[in-house]
Amino acid sequence: MPDQPITGTTAGEISASVRDLVGSGGLRPGDPVPPIRELAAELGVHRNTVAAAYRLLAAAGVAETRGRHGTVITSPSPLAGEAAANAGLVDLSSGNPDPALLPDVDAALSRLGYRMRMYGSEAVEPRLARWMRASCAPQLDVPFEVSVTHGAVDAVERLLVANLTRGDLVAVEDPCFYASAGTVRLNGFRAAPVPVDTEGMHPAALRAALDAGARAVLLTPRAHSPTGVSLTAERAAELRSVLADHPQVLVLEDDHFSAVSRTAYHRATPPVTRRWALVRSVAKFLGPDLRVAVVASDVDTADRLAARLRPGASWVSRLLQQLVAELLESDDAAAVFDRARRGYADRVDALRAELAEAGVETPFPTDGFNVWVPVPEGPAATVGALREAGWSVRDGSLFMPPGSTATPGLRVTASRLTRPRAREFARCLAATRSS
Ligand SMILES: Cc1ncc(COP(=O)(O)O)c(C=O)c1O
Repeated sequence: MPDQPITGTTAGEISASVRDLVGSGGLRPGDPVPPIRELAAELGVHRNTVAAAYRLLAAAGVAETRGRHGTVITSPSPLAGEAAANAGLVDLSSGNPDPALLPDVDAALSRLGYRMRMYGSEAVEPRLARWMRASCAPQLDVPFEVSVTHGAVDAVERLLVANLTRGDLVAVEDPCFYASAGTVRLNGFRAAPVPVDTEGMHPAALRAALDAGARAVLLTPRAHSPTGVSLTAERAAELRSVLADHPQVLVLEDDHFSAVSRTAYHRATPPVTRRWALVRSVAKFLGPDLRVAVVASDVDTADRLAARLRPGASWVSRLLQQLVAELLESDDAAAVFDRARRGYADRVDALRAELAEAGVETPFPTDGFNVWVPVPEGPAATVGALREAGWSVRDGSLFMPPGSTATPGLRVTASRLTRPRAREFARCLAATRSS
């Protein structure tokens, strides 16, 4: 509880008082605010007034409701400090690609022939637009524009902020990529969790979220984080038919693993959807330091995005774009991506096989380089015990949007895991869970 009292008799005053306390450091990220009943009694106001104040704080992204844990002050990054805390452990948590499976950046740089660009020149590198058009051509039979952002997370944030207002409901996967859940939370949107099974988002649950008023849907067509699930053709068709009944809803597809995915892309967006975007980022196959995302979208959405990408703070370096285009279009790109695709597929398959051998179930078919291990009793103790044994894995609670009904679990990144190491880890995990 804050050292200084929360004051006010109207929702606006109470909410402003909490914001002041956050501003002065009297309340810090993660701190709980008093239960509604308690604060209402203290301030001599009706409970509805305090509830309304907490709703204002949630809409402003200052606080968030964590179900029965009450309302807490929002933390900017749940991962702050993780790298330092994991020093010395075998890293199965960071979700990074294997540097050995990335293309040769030095060689591409030497071929670049860069010419300085100034604000006012074209914002999108033509070669990158061409790559996106070629990579989308088989699946996109509607007119579209190409934009570039600073990665997928940036694209999703700009697209949501450009189209929604605070308090709007966004249908997200449950579990859900933590950065997407964070974007929804920190911008004051509300998440409508839609369960994911072995084929992707549940159509009936998506329909329920749309019926409840969701104004946007954010989904991962392939290599869903954290489960690794990719949409099957049948499931994509079912989702298209659900979304076709809500053509006004913004549909965002985050295809972050595209070039190295082991599954085909099946489009979840129906042709009648008026505002949509397909985001293809490169961090997973060119490396996080070359992070850009290429976005195909309807023309209106591209215009809204462009309004937020005008020269200035959000210019995406043309040098970076040119380098990325050079890597994507180089003669050996297909071979490099094939090698990475096979490498990651082998490693996740090996890890799943070793886990099965050790008696640990991994129910999701896995694309990408992460494996999801359900831990119904909650992952905290297992994550802690693995740390003691020298392994860092990611606590799956990070991937649970507010209101999640997903089975808790943990995410294991297998991008660099050799078979003997996978065996060692699987045995350690099995022993941890049986003790
Ligand atoms: C589902 C998903 N989307 C996007 C990204 C990467 O986004 P960015 O391009 O912002 O690095 C990741 C990386 O972990 C991811 O898991």
